[in-house]
Amino acid sequence: MRNSILFPLPGNETLAAVLAEKLKLEKGLAEFHEFPDGECHLRVETDVENKFVIIVCTLDHPNIKFLSLIFLAETLRELGAKKICLVAPYLPYMRQDKHFKSGDALTSAIFAKLLSGSIDQLITIDPHLHRIHELSEIYSIPSLKTLHASKKIAEWILDNVNSPFILGPDAESEQWVNEVAGHSKAPYAIIKKNRRGDNFVEVKLPDLKDHNKTMILVDDIISTGATMLAVLEQLKAQGFKNIICIGVHALFSKETYENLLYSGATRVVTCNAIPHFSNAIDLTELIEAEIKNTIID
Ligand code: R5P
Repeated sequence: MRNSILFPLPGNETLAAVLAEKLKLEKGLAEFHEFPDGECHLRVETDVENKFVIIVCTLDHPNIKFLSLIFLAETLRELGAKKICLVAPYLPYMRQDKHFKSGDALTSAIFAKLLSGSIDQLITIDPHLHRIHELSEIYSIPSLKTLHASKKIAEWILDNVNSPFILGPDAESEQWVNEVAGHSKAPYAIIKKNRRGDNFVEVKLPDLKDHNKTMILVDDIISTGATMLAVLEQLKAQGFKNIICIGVHALFSKETYENLLYSGATRVVTCNAIPHFSNAIDLTELIEAEIKNTIID
């Protein structure tokens, strides 16, 4: 990939370094500086003329990351970059995909429109596709690639758990829970969930009976933890002792991780789509393979 160059946004250096090494990609240098008033200055130090540029930026906490990302992408284009590919393992704002109440901002579509204006290719992992079935329904980026963590999660389960039973906490989780269960050859069930507020979730569990199983909750996102906490409570009430929580995207608001352990999870495991000390499932290989597949120069 002689004509490709990779730029991490601050906070994405680890993933970028591994990708650069594995793919033998040149690393670009961009200096970010925050002025005392909170505005941002950016200078691209590497020649990008006619280069295929890969920006690595996972987009948890998007409100503070987004402007830097757009400043970088637009500056790279101005400097002559041939194409700009964004590797964003976590793609935000996918959950606000309908007007729940009149006057609600449709942030999934607005965010998609804003991002689509600045990049040519997007590689992401398990975006929260619910009422939107394909990213192309809202993103107009010419090349969109969605990768899936299910096989890697299943490999982790096969290596670490005897007698697993997979639980999906809501209807939309069936798409990835079904895959994880298939790859790990484990039985699964999907729970009914009602979210009443940021921190208030109601779930209805079937009677799961076999208490010798290790229950594994699998969700795409763990944020407040309210979803998993509600399930944990009912599993404990049914007498289950071994319960593992697995999330693809460790959004974790304050104390979520500790609350899950305190409330009965024997382990909380996440993928490295968002850096966190609970990351135990490495998705770098998926991204590496996709870059190899699609970026030919
Ligand atoms: C939403 O439907 C997602 O799949 C997750 O279940 C949700 O985002 C988890 O959020 P929290 O941890 O705040 O319950």
